[in-house]
Amino acid sequence: MFSSEVYSNRRNKLRASVSSGIILVLGNNESPMNYKSNTYHFRQDSTFLYFFGLDKDGLAGVLDIDNQTDYIFGNDVDMDDIIWMGNLPSMKDQAEQVGVKNTAPFNNLSDFLKKAIIAGRKIHFTPPYRTENALLLSNLLGVNYTFIKEYASVELIKAIVKLRSIKDEFEIAEISKAVNTTYLMHTTGMKMAKSGIIEQEIVGVLEGISLSGGNPPSFPIILTVNGQTLHNHNHSNTLSVGRMMVIDAGASTSMHYAGDITRTVPVGGKFNTRQRDIYNAVLNANMAAITACKPGIAYREIHLLACKTLAQNLKEIGLMKGNIDDAIKAGAHALFMPHGLGHMLGLDVHDMEDYGENHVGYDEKYVRSSQFGLAFLRLGRELQKGFVLTVEPGCYFIPALIDQWKAEKMHTDFINYDLVETYKDFGGIRIEDDVLITENGFNVLGKPIPKTVAEIEETMGS
Ligand code: GLY
Ligand code: MN
Repeated sequence: MFSSEVYSNRRNKLRASVSSGIILVLGNNESPMNYKSNTYHFRQDSTFLYFFGLDKDGLAGVLDIDNQTDYIFGNDVDMDDIIWMGNLPSMKDQAEQVGVKNTAPFNNLSDFLKKAIIAGRKIHFTPPYRTENALLLSNLLGVNYTFIKEYASVELIKAIVKLRSIKDEFEIAEISKAVNTTYLMHTTGMKMAKSGIIEQEIVGVLEGISLSGGNPPSFPIILTVNGQTLHNHNHSNTLSVGRMMVIDAGASTSMHYAGDITRTVPVGGKFNTRQRDIYNAVLNANMAAITACKPGIAYREIHLLACKTLAQNLKEIGLMKGNIDDAIKAGAHALFMPHGLGHMLGLDVHDMEDYGENHVGYDEKYVRSSQFGLAFLRLGRELQKGFVLTVEPGCYFIPALIDQWKAEKMHTDFINYDLVETYKDFGGIRIEDDVLITENGFNVLGKPIPKTVAEIEETMGS
């Protein structure tokens, strides 16, 4: 964990930016896979990690805004815990490591909150995403479970988003560490991408690399020769030359900071002409977008720049036609890139998404579009120094979408359906990097992962 001052400072800043009342931060609990004592890999709640640092189950943190006091509610280990799982420092000693002086058994939380509610004090919390914590909140606060999310505090969400959006030097070092482990995952995956191997064989090795670096991957690995399915979690295909293999995978560090990188490579290690042309179109979009990153520019503008770059390249290939500015305005490019350019990255791979995407990625000035494609952009607002985000353009040939648009004569001024038809067996390409917004521009985090055609061919051939 970071030093106790890091957590104390974060809590002080949060208390100063919420008007009054009590902030309740529930930690996560162990979650059973198939029976109670056989659990999924434990993952602490990110809000709890950010403000209270302790990476164990059975905890709740409280910030009393009016009395400037913090508490951790949690139990000391008992003899059964010691026998089966080992000893731990007392709750008091653990709390001191994160700068909290007041601790109490977990069951005292209920009375503590009851007193506050009777006194008419507001209890702020973020929307629960695990059923167990939604039920616990419902019981603690006496609010019907069905409506519990609606009682989440928008004031609290906005205050936390403001804090967590700006990464400090320690967080940037952690994310860079995650990307460096991710480097090893990707270069290993590239070298394994040979004809005859099954996707799952590569996935298993990559998961192991992430675990060796600290923790499991930051999200379920996407590794597929069917990259036209954006979040494809089927890993049963056997690789064959002529296919492109998408690897969208990131490590997470022992402190749970995430990497999130995508590379797409030709099975066997050599791009054919068609693959190289589409690949370079996506690469140009990725590079144009990264280069445009700086404080003050809205990420929606960078998304549109990436789309325009892609569309111009697709016009050169013959897949698109007409005036490209008009095509972008109409949303015709979304046949090929039906998703957003990227998202915030931090403790979560889609950082803070549990608070609600619009609270993180949009504000009063930048409201989410409803246009197909652009509507999936998770981050649209202006960039600030200290943001860490992903830049991940792609180009996909999705047969069902092509059939639908063609049948409905969608954007026929801008799409050359005759040529598009011949790409239905192509799959998809995505190229993703993790980018820090600096004072005057950007910094691509971590050890550079092979990205150009030449770099990838060299890595795969070595
Ligand atoms: N890398 C997976 C995603 O961004 O959704
Ligand atoms: Mn991503």
